[in-house]
Amino acid sequence: MSFIKKIECDLTKIINEIGYEIDNVFLSVSNRPDLGEYQLNDAMKLAKKYSTNPRQIAERIVEVLNNDNRFINVNIAGSGFINISISDDYLIECMNQMIKDVYNNIDLQAKKKIILDYGGANVAKALHVGHLRSANIGEALKRLARTLGVETLADAHLGDWGRPIGLVMLEIKNRNPLLPYFDETFDGEYPEESPVTNDDLMELYPFASAKAKEDPVYMEEARVITAKFQNRDKGLMALWNHIMKVSKADIKRIYDKLNTTFEIWNGESDEDKFIPEMINYLETKNLIEESQGARIINVKEESDDREMPPLLLIKSNGGASYETTDLACIWGRVKLHSPDEIWYLTDVRQSLHFEQVFRAAKKAKIVDENVKLEFIPFGTMNGSDGKPFKTRDGGVMKLEDLLTLAENECEKKILPNIIGQERKEIAEKVSVAAVKYADLIPFRGTDYIFDIAKFSDLEGKTGPYLLYSTIRMKSLLNKAESLNLNFDEVKIVDNECDREIMLNVLNLPLSLTKSYENRSLNEIADYIYKLTSSYNKFYSENRVLDEQNEETRSSWLALTKLVLNINLMLLDILGIECPSKM
Ligand code: ARG
Repeated sequence: MSFIKKIECDLTKIINEIGYEIDNVFLSVSNRPDLGEYQLNDAMKLAKKYSTNPRQIAERIVEVLNNDNRFINVNIAGSGFINISISDDYLIECMNQMIKDVYNNIDLQAKKKIILDYGGANVAKALHVGHLRSANIGEALKRLARTLGVETLADAHLGDWGRPIGLVMLEIKNRNPLLPYFDETFDGEYPEESPVTNDDLMELYPFASAKAKEDPVYMEEARVITAKFQNRDKGLMALWNHIMKVSKADIKRIYDKLNTTFEIWNGESDEDKFIPEMINYLETKNLIEESQGARIINVKEESDDREMPPLLLIKSNGGASYETTDLACIWGRVKLHSPDEIWYLTDVRQSLHFEQVFRAAKKAKIVDENVKLEFIPFGTMNGSDGKPFKTRDGGVMKLEDLLTLAENECEKKILPNIIGQERKEIAEKVSVAAVKYADLIPFRGTDYIFDIAKFSDLEGKTGPYLLYSTIRMKSLLNKAESLNLNFDEVKIVDNECDREIMLNVLNLPLSLTKSYENRSLNEIADYIYKLTSSYNKFYSENRVLDEQNEETRSSWLALTKLVLNINLMLLDILGIECPSKM
């Protein structure tokens, strides 16, 4: 349990013992540190409940707190706000407990299992900037949940069963009609080698997609070939497997760059097999209705005050819809993993889709009532014109091109003596930090503007600033180690600067819990900046290694090590890797 939580529990007990019933109290970080480091506002609430004077209640609480050596300067402000500051001794004790194990100051979540769905890359198509945010936010939420003791499983949920692949197949067929995949009489072995590379796919899909938009005959052919592979035509499945292998390898490579990982590499094709049994089940529940040749599920609820169209289960041409696949996917996930929660991350434009799917899943009891299906939408990354980020000529920017852009910018910031392959690798890490951190600072629902010059600035509130500062802490400790200096524990609070660091360290669990509760990394992103800045201020005002007082020097070094470890832990949660130099 965190130290703040422990104090809150003790305060609750104290207040109950004085004679005022209260379930739990809330200690807030004060915005007037000159009056106190924390503030307790519960006397006001209690005064209302007991119709007495808040100041009187506050005075009785303060009386007890004055005898607790964890606190100093306990005072009452205004009509009954209690200001509390932490004593040096207790601050030191907390720091040393955290040096032993950071988990001594972390509030774990209740045990549960969460499946996270934040991949969604589409096979045969390039990842685009829209996939960047789900990868960044989803991965970080998974790491955060794990840090807080939750069991997590991330599923890549690739878009691998739809029209884009049909379009690519059609174009391959038009260019190479003699390939055996299209010959229904062929009964030999299909080639082991893929007829297309990923580069081919990157050219084939945009070409076919543009052509289909202009040419209805071509579009119809694409529809036919899509239906054919979805019915598992032997030749087309052999081609599908090639396309999958080639494209998946490339998708993996880019997710790797972003430190985005999945425990399950399923795609929509893996959910397709659950559709027949699910439809059977829905039929027995009498939930399917016929409508203009299609089969639908009504998902309206009485309390609706907006339009809620039915979920399209089977289209009039017999095909399954995007909704059906997601419903079948829930069916499969429940069957295979029995999760307590499933979290979905896409941009806010898919909110109706998920609302329909969740309602249908609950209505049909595909999931238990207490299983939580949660849509976690995010805003868009925009260009300087305030519209979704595009290439110069107005096209969709490939994710990889965006990363290259960031890499080129960050490369300029790296020390000149780092050269060759190492320089490239470090530039890549720094650029990922720049892009990810910028993506995670705003509240996830907020749109933001892509500005790589700003994101890569070593002086600003940026990923590179955090990396640079963290590396500096590391090298200070390396020097201390080579000088055989001791830094096992914090022994004193020497000045306002190191005290501020310690207070920030103490507040670590607040940012973790808040980020988890809000499903948004902005609290952690803000916190790590605040902690790092307080350390940097201390670093510029004190010469740690030259300090002659052994007690002071070893305290400072121990504190440095603690801040370093917290930074590395938080960067890791954000999915950011720290190079050894830059
Ligand atoms: N493939 C989809 C897209 O690119 C995203 C999938 C999101 N996840 C889901 N379970 N529907 O828009």
